[in-house]
Amino acid sequence: MKKVVAIDGPSGAGKSTIAKMLARELGFHYLDTGALYRAVALHLLQQGFQENAGDEEITLALKKVRVAFRQGRVMMGNVDVSDDIRSPEASHFASVFSARKPVREYLLDIQRDAARHADIVAEGRDMTTVVFPGAYHKFYLDASVEERTRRRTTELLAKGYDVQEERIRTEIIERDARDAGRDIAPLKRAEDACFVDSTGLDVTEVFSLMLKSLRRPREMPRR
Ligand code: DC
Repeated sequence: MKKVVAIDGPSGAGKSTIAKMLARELGFHYLDTGALYRAVALHLLQQGFQENAGDEEITLALKKVRVAFRQGRVMMGNVDVSDDIRSPEASHFASVFSARKPVREYLLDIQRDAARHADIVAEGRDMTTVVFPGAYHKFYLDASVEERTRRRTTELLAKGYDVQEERIRTEIIERDARDAGRDIAPLKRAEDACFVDSTGLDVTEVFSLMLKSLRRPREMPRR
């Protein structure tokens, strides 16, 4: 395995933006694992799967497709799903189906493969705990529910979705509970992860804080 900088945290904490910036700065590849869960959820939805689908049916459905990144785009088989996976519906079902064992097993090797030939910055919910427990450097990136709600609402409005802040807040709270409360690979802070609270900080401040931690690991709080 090559070098991995692993970042976990709840939705809207700023993981993707920061992970992309760190990857560019370090000359590493960027691995957006949420995009993989979103693509799988979209595929299951398109196949008519409901939340209560059986494990065997899900396993079979996943045997027939391959999710991958191609030139920065997210591909499900030969279909580019990069835009469709960002809808509020895909967010909801990604959180629902990501709790399922066949889905997590299916994506585990795909994620680890990404670190076989390239140094990566990987972000998600279980990068520091399950997928890359031996990562070179680990972060847990958080922000208050209010701040994450504001960021998500602004992002979705900019993409043309008709959303209301209060509804987004409820969805964030529900997703947090589902992502942290599931039995397999729940979102949690790893003991050896640097904790970064991005509430009230702008992107450049968070970026320089994390870069400093990468360069001088002993000076940052682990919890
Ligand atoms: O990071 P995101 O919002 O794009 O992730 C979408 C969903 O995928 C999230 O609600 C939980 C799930 N996920 C996961 O369970 N494990 C990961 N490593 C990444 C995402």
